Amino acid sequence: NAMLAWQRTAFHFQPPKNWMNDPNGPLYHKGWYHLFYQWNPDSAVWGNITWGHAVSRDLVHWLHLPLAMVPDHWYDANGVWSGSATRLPDGRIVMLYTGSTPESVQVQNLAEPADVSDPLLREWVKSDANPILVPPPGIGLKDFRDPTTAWRVPNDTAWRVAIGSKDRDHAGLALVYRTEDFVRYDEAPVLMHAVPGTGMWECVDFYPVSAAAGAEGVNGMETSAPPGPAVKHVVKASLDDDKHDYYAIGTYDAAEDTWTPDDAGNDVGIGLRYDYGKFYASKTFYDPVLRRRVLWGWVGETDSERADILKGWASLQSIPRTVLLDTKTGSNLLQWPVVEVENLRMSGKSFHGVALGRGAIVPLDVGKATQLDIEAEFELDAAAVEAVTEADVGFNCSTSTGAAGRGMLGPFGLLVLADDDLSEQTAVYFYLVKGTDGSLKTFFCQDELRASRANDLVKRVYGSIVPVLHGENLSVRILVDHSIVESFAQGGRTCITSRVYPTRAIYDSARVFLFNNATNIHVTAKSVKIWQLNSAYIRPYSASSL
Ligand code: FRU
Repeated sequence: NAMLAWQRTAFHFQPPKNWMNDPNGPLYHKGWYHLFYQWNPDSAVWGNITWGHAVSRDLVHWLHLPLAMVPDHWYDANGVWSGSATRLPDGRIVMLYTGSTPESVQVQNLAEPADVSDPLLREWVKSDANPILVPPPGIGLKDFRDPTTAWRVPNDTAWRVAIGSKDRDHAGLALVYRTEDFVRYDEAPVLMHAVPGTGMWECVDFYPVSAAAGAEGVNGMETSAPPGPAVKHVVKASLDDDKHDYYAIGTYDAAEDTWTPDDAGNDVGIGLRYDYGKFYASKTFYDPVLRRRVLWGWVGETDSERADILKGWASLQSIPRTVLLDTKTGSNLLQWPVVEVENLRMSGKSFHGVALGRGAIVPLDVGKATQLDIEAEFELDAAAVEAVTEADVGFNCSTSTGAAGRGMLGPFGLLVLADDDLSEQTAVYFYLVKGTDGSLKTFFCQDELRASRANDLVKRVYGSIVPVLHGENLSVRILVDHSIVESFAQGGRTCITSRVYPTRAIYDSARVFLFNNATNIHVTAKSVKIWQLNSAYIRPYSASSL
């Protein structure tokens, strides 16, 4: 539908049309990054789930390949659901995925490329042994899905694979199976971790991160990297109950296949989130070329199903993000757009020392503003912050009135996808709160309440606390792409993704502003760099496109 054409994105991964959900089986093979994804070939709503497939040299430009797997066996007749890839040391590639049977029983299946010497891995063969796992005793027939990438531990030949579930008391579970050959598995799984009250864990992810400060710590780790003092393990679960991705950092006991969070108050499902906006069913993979761990997340729509059918498509994949442990805080991950995104940068503009008095709104003239990469750094008037004895201690992004509200020490930040008279605007901002004991906390929020004049939309104020260390300025990176705003505060400690559907702030009418709505401080935008981003090449494969 041409009327909604401006909502399609230019550098986020999307299939040509129809419904997409989870990223599946990401991997690197013979010069190509592979992305598979849950796809409905027939319409823009969920159903008939197959595996779409695309390949890229750089995680930015993509070629769509023919479908990798379709529901053509009894064990996946109701859908080829989510799964993960494992590369074995002998060069084999093993794909484990969930099949939904005609009775909607969730079983695990094995598939392998017909020809691993094909860099494009175009053809996939399902194992004659399928299904290789069925729900174990005590587990609901519809609560057993989404196998992880497999890993090994020192001094043991068996591979491990985790599968998400829930128990009868509504605890979320990660179950671990051991296998030598990916066909036969231990009869009973080990309970790796359980968190009461969190319900079904979808798309569990499990991987090591380096806890070493300095150069070593900037590399990602291979999934089977041995546990050790400088290694932490992350468990992530996608909570079916509230549709958010939660992670926790902890310690893996390789002998027992159990995992314990560092901080029981920040366990999986009750503490930190990858992203405080629209972001779900994510998955990481290890990229052996740039030695990094890369995270993909499904970013759904927040418009109506009717609108999705009209426009003929639904959902994006997030910008692929590198994930590292934040060795400065030790207690959160850092997510950052993969470095290749910077190759899309075209002309840029820099602004320095922009003073933002109380109530200021300052336009930034950057020309067309629908495809942007923004890096901004703010400095506060320390004396004015000092002078405030108490500010908004009960503050919370999601229950606040958003960027229109005025507190003593916030909000201040940027307005993107805004039109000239600000009838539409998506606000990305900081908001400080201060206790009577002098303690400061910084919130990072994104406000969609005025993002569109259309009203058949879910519009929220998203966000959470962002750790700010002594001596640090406040900084944010924002990727703007027509109908998505993906933001990373303090180097990626706290991230927020919004889907927005402006009706006026489109094409040449989209603008960027700085604003400060705090009543008690002025803020300086120390530096704001804004690049126009080129469109990525995301097209159907043809032999000539190589
Ligand atoms: C998560 C999920 C997975 C399942 C797939 C089905 O969004 O529900 O648990 O495998 O999507 O499409």
